[in-house]
Amino acid sequence: MTHLAQPAELGRDHPATGALADAQTVTSVTHWTDRLFSFRITRPASLRFRSGEFVMIGLPGDNGKPILRAYSIASPVWDEELEFYSIKVPNGPLTSRLANIRVGDAIILRPKPTGTLVLDALIPGKRLYLLATGTGIAPFASLLRDPETYEKFDQVVLTHTCRERTDLAYGEELMERIARDPLVGEASAGRLTYYPTTTQEPSRNTGRITERIASGKLFEDLGVPAWSAQGDRVMICGSMGFNLDVKALAQTAGLEEGSNARPGTFVLEKAFVG
Ligand code: A2P
Repeated sequence: MTHLAQPAELGRDHPATGALADAQTVTSVTHWTDRLFSFRITRPASLRFRSGEFVMIGLPGDNGKPILRAYSIASPVWDEELEFYSIKVPNGPLTSRLANIRVGDAIILRPKPTGTLVLDALIPGKRLYLLATGTGIAPFASLLRDPETYEKFDQVVLTHTCRERTDLAYGEELMERIARDPLVGEASAGRLTYYPTTTQEPSRNTGRITERIASGKLFEDLGVPAWSAQGDRVMICGSMGFNLDVKALAQTAGLEEGSNARPGTFVLEKAFVG
């Protein structure tokens, strides 16, 4: 039987039609704090991605050249739109302008998803740890709404470290959305643990998560043994310093960094800002 290529398939591989796919429209914007916001845009029908991947998005620059940055897709793979979670950097070339976008505005999207925070880069395990600081929670917001995450792991732990309690709002709402979600609500019940910590304001868990991993407090609170290569898998997404510190803790526990080409027991990626 002859396979007739659909327009969407042509668009994916055809540089000449790439420009068409590049312009998307903002469908909603939510400002969480004066430093954090999320927004949703239309999704090209041809765009397929794996939970946890990122794409390049941006705005036209003054000289006509687009200003693009890598942003993790925060929405689940089955969502009709794409969601992103961003910091506002006061003089940041992109985020200072992105922070002012409104519904109906155009956003440039380069529809070539990639990244290492994907289930494929981890060898099978029992317990999955997703460790984020700040906007590093974005790729995990996608992974946590993928039924495959709960098919592959018995237990999932999301830790989110932010400066202040209000910075946790996006993650708190995510937890509520997951609990009500028709696809993963039931699968995640009793198996997903949310562990927020704040470093510059007291909260239920005050301090850096790295200290709680090093001291064993995190594992004590969860009622589980400390990390071991046998069953524990770790995904890390935060600032450069955070990633390096958690990487060292993971390696001390005997975990090995994985990639798409060579799956391992932990993976990491920088949370993108700018
Ligand atoms: P801290 O306030 O102690 O620096 P930022 O807003 O600077 O990106 O930081 C987001 C959160 O990540 C803050 O709570 C910050 O804690 C925490 N953080 C930054 N670097 C590290 C690190 N190396 N290890 C653990 N937590 C970190």
